[in-house]
Amino acid sequence: MGFLSSSASGSITMRSSFAVLLVLLAFSSTFTSTEAYDALDPTGNITIKWDVLSWTPDGYVATVTMYNFQQYRHIQAPGWTLGWTWAKKEVIWSMVGAQTTDQGDCSRFKGNIPHCCRKDPTVVDLLPGTPYNQQIANCCKGGVLNSWVQDPSNAASSFQVSVGAAGTTNKTVRLPKNFTLKAPGPGYTCGPAKIVRPSKFVTADKRRVTQALMTWNITCTYSQFLAQKTPTCCVSLSSFYNDTIVNCPTCTCGCQNNITDPGSCVDPESPYLASAVAGPGKSTNAPLVQCTSHMCPVRVHWHVKLNYKDYWRVKVTITNFNYRMNYTQWNLVVQHPNFDNLTQLFSFQYKPLTPYAGLNDTAMLWGVKFYNDLLTQAGPLGNVQSELLFRKDKSTFTFEKGWAFPRRIYFNGDNCVMPPPDAYPWLPNAGSKLITSLLRPAFTILASLVFLLAFA
Ligand SMILES: *[C@@H]1O[C@H](CO)[C@@H](O)[C@H](O)[C@H]1NC(C)=O
Ligand SMILES: *[C@@H]1O[C@H](CO)[C@@H](O)[C@H](O)[C@H]1NC(C)=O
Ligand SMILES: *[C@@H]1O[C@H](CO)[C@@H](O)[C@H](O)[C@H]1NC(C)=O
Ligand SMILES: *[C@@H]1O[C@H](CO)[C@@H](O)[C@H](O)[C@H]1NC(C)=O
Ligand SMILES: *[C@@H]1O[C@H](CO)[C@@H](O)[C@H](O)[C@H]1NC(C)=O
Ligand SMILES: *[C@@H]1O[C@H](CO)[C@@H](O)[C@H](O)[C@H]1NC(C)=O
Ligand SMILES: *[C@@H]1O[C@H](CO)[C@@H](O)[C@H](O)[C@H]1NC(C)=O
Ligand SMILES: *[C@@H]1O[C@H](CO)[C@@H](O)[C@H](O)[C@H]1NC(C)=O
Ligand SMILES: *[C@@H]1O[C@H](CO)[C@@H](O)[C@H](O)[C@H]1NC(C)=O
Repeated sequence: MGFLSSSASGSITMRSSFAVLLVLLAFSSTFTSTEAYDALDPTGNITIKWDVLSWTPDGYVATVTMYNFQQYRHIQAPGWTLGWTWAKKEVIWSMVGAQTTDQGDCSRFKGNIPHCCRKDPTVVDLLPGTPYNQQIANCCKGGVLNSWVQDPSNAASSFQVSVGAAGTTNKTVRLPKNFTLKAPGPGYTCGPAKIVRPSKFVTADKRRVTQALMTWNITCTYSQFLAQKTPTCCVSLSSFYNDTIVNCPTCTCGCQNNITDPGSCVDPESPYLASAVAGPGKSTNAPLVQCTSHMCPVRVHWHVKLNYKDYWRVKVTITNFNYRMNYTQWNLVVQHPNFDNLTQLFSFQYKPLTPYAGLNDTAMLWGVKFYNDLLTQAGPLGNVQSELLFRKDKSTFTFEKGWAFPRRIYFNGDNCVMPPPDAYPWLPNAGSKLITSLLRPAFTILASLVFLLAFA
């Protein structure tokens, strides 16, 4: 067993025990509930709160507020869509700060016609620029809901609804059922409405507290598995110590197919680029990507740039290959053991994420407002970049065996596919090929288990 040097087995053990830890964490949750689970944001959820503020002759008026309690997952334009099913024959007389997309059949009404008579109304936010007399606080942002870490002041969205043909006391009112939240695509699963302690409101001058007549909450959680089957992001790697650039794995997000689907991607040199971008499919929001070997809309490149005595430096570049998407308020979550000693970071914002006590190896990065918080559509301006300076911890730091590369990256909350570990750039003369290739199958199995469980 001469080829397993002690340092090699040390680092492999660390790696595997980390993977095992994740597997265990994922297991403990997956088998106690069928809910979505994100190991880096275990309590992440969107909570929808209904506060009944007054009873009316035939129902009630409620303020509905959605709070995005997810650390890094946000909802960007074209925004959220909220649906539910009424328990009985309720109707919506009027709404402020949002509207239903379809009025439905109100033929049984004479005189005043309700805003919506559907049994399963679908609600969307109003657009910015809505007249002030049709607004309420936290409304009218076109359905955009920022994440809790990135912009807590814009992580809530509200509207008011006046419900008729409903119960008029807290004993007779029936809670709506079957909530659906779209962002605008699938991905969220909502639990049942639960009656909770009535919300309290403090007046602006803080001298009086009022409270809701009745309050119920609905919790929605996200699962990448439900959201889409194919990945949307991949990682490429390079280093100063090896000329090899390890590209994203081929066909990560799809394969180029000129024969059966010639319009599946766009050649940036093509004279037809502009018409293709404006062409069919624009309304569906389907990505239109630049032709690459990976076909992903987004690539994150991690370059190990410099080695100093006490520090080392990484350059991170995020490239947008999608001609149909400007990513507003984008964010990145990166896991690397040296994040507990991040010393300096240029032109991005940063916050450590510490889902488990004692484990400070995960960081959330996002753009500086009005500078690079917008990742523009594919093209010469379609990228943002930053440099990170880490302080070396002598007991763990090494350039060997891919230690300097990230363990996991998410873009806007979705997992970015990494190249296989044995493809990572090596240190010159590193005799690690045999070891990594021998241990890779075990690691790959663990890694895919982690992936499956984390997103199942
Ligand atoms: C939703 O998120 C909030 C804030 O992180 C947390 O306090 C709450 O327990 C979560 N709810 C569920 C059902 O996970
Ligand atoms: C309904 O209101 C009564 C008092 O008016 C209160 O005691 C009771 O707890 C309330 N029930 C619910 C479900 O809120
Ligand atoms: C809940 O909503 C889904 C999708 O809108 C629908 O298929 C299902 O029948 C609904 N269930 C009930 C009990 O209304
Ligand atoms: C209901 O939701 C509100 C707002 O999200 C939250 O403050 C409150 O703790 C929730 N109540 C329960 C019992 O989850
Ligand atoms: C598809 O087109 C690209 C560039 O136009 C070319 O490099 C590639 O070989 C073609 N692939 C197939 C399968 O024909
Ligand atoms: C992205 O933003 C630029 C500049 O604001 C705009 O010209 C372009 O049409 C936008 N693209 C999309 C797909 O929204
Ligand atoms: C995690 O590490 C960062 C960078 O050194 C530090 O600023 C932060 O305080 C640490 N957080 C915790 C909870 O240890
Ligand atoms: C790195 O961070 C850890 C935890 O914050 C600390 O114990 C350690 O001393 C730091 N190492 C260096 C070299 O600063
Ligand atoms: C650079 O790394 C690659 C593996 O990605 C390896 O094949 C190559 O031999 C390395 N180059 C040097 C000079 O070590």
